[in-house]
Amino acid sequence: MTKKNILSAIQPTGQIHLGNYLGAIQNWVKLQADYNCVYGVVDYHAMTMPYDAQALRNNTLDMIMSLVACGVKPENLFIQSLIPEHTELAWILNCVASYNELTRQTQFKDKIAQLEENTSGSFITAGLFTYPVLQAADILMYHPHFVPVGKDQEQHVELSRNVVNRFNYQFQTEYFHEPQVLFTETPKVQSLADPSKKMSKSLGEKHCVFLFEEESTLRKKIKTAVTDTGDTPEGQMSPGVENLFTIIKALGNDSLHQDLMQEYLSGAKMYGKLKEGVAETVVPFVNTLREKKMEIMEDADFMDKIRASSAEIRKKAQKTLQEVREITGLI
Ligand code: TRP
Repeated sequence: MTKKNILSAIQPTGQIHLGNYLGAIQNWVKLQADYNCVYGVVDYHAMTMPYDAQALRNNTLDMIMSLVACGVKPENLFIQSLIPEHTELAWILNCVASYNELTRQTQFKDKIAQLEENTSGSFITAGLFTYPVLQAADILMYHPHFVPVGKDQEQHVELSRNVVNRFNYQFQTEYFHEPQVLFTETPKVQSLADPSKKMSKSLGEKHCVFLFEEESTLRKKIKTAVTDTGDTPEGQMSPGVENLFTIIKALGNDSLHQDLMQEYLSGAKMYGKLKEGVAETVVPFVNTLREKKMEIMEDADFMDKIRASSAEIRKKAQKTLQEVREITGLI
């Protein structure tokens, strides 16, 4: 049976934390066994919000290395700006996509709110507005059957489906087909320091387990993680305790999870031990990833490999563009 196609992408955001890994990257790695996967690090998207040029370049390279350290195959990876066809297709799709639909995108509204809160001012780029069209171009470029993304990206994939229908209707073709969102149940990891909130870099360092973090800081964070603040009703597990159990389970330490859960259910005071269990699970996991990333950073040929895989993936993009130019009346 021929494998179906998958496309997904991630912004080069800087340090990756455990929530990012368990919510998306781990899934990307697994999907490679059963699908033809193409994964992008989308640096053009990162230009839609205020940014620093040098930081963008560093973050893009760092993200590529991190993904490979996590098990994404280099040949499945591309850097968006190494395939300028993405911007060309985005322009063409800009002339198909609906202005009104773009104004209704919740991520656009959220990001505007974020900019307005920020001291850097509330200047809103046109790129932020057409961001979902660039995303539609990323997706449609590779004719995927499935797009694995989180709930927050559902509306963007929906927009790309609408673009498909309008494109096909306008040009009387069946050239593009509608991509489907692929949802996977992933463990929800909360902040260590404030378990009522989702683990997020914007909360601050102490809230996150970073994927390539040094052992000493990691141990400190786990030791000071919030467990029970005393305001959880009798008979319920407090969010902090639940979160620590989730982390142990999500990293595959089932037997330890079971033992500790039994102890918890028997009513023992075991939070110290629970944290030790978290450290015992997380530290070796992070250490292994950090070592892998070090190897990649020392591999003098690594960037050549990434350029080569982007060039290979670019051929698919060039084919799509050739066909689209033909359909849409360009010379
Ligand atoms: N907008 C996505 C995010 O913020 C990133 C993204 C860009 C993407 N292009 C994509 C995701 C194509 C899936 C497919 O997470």
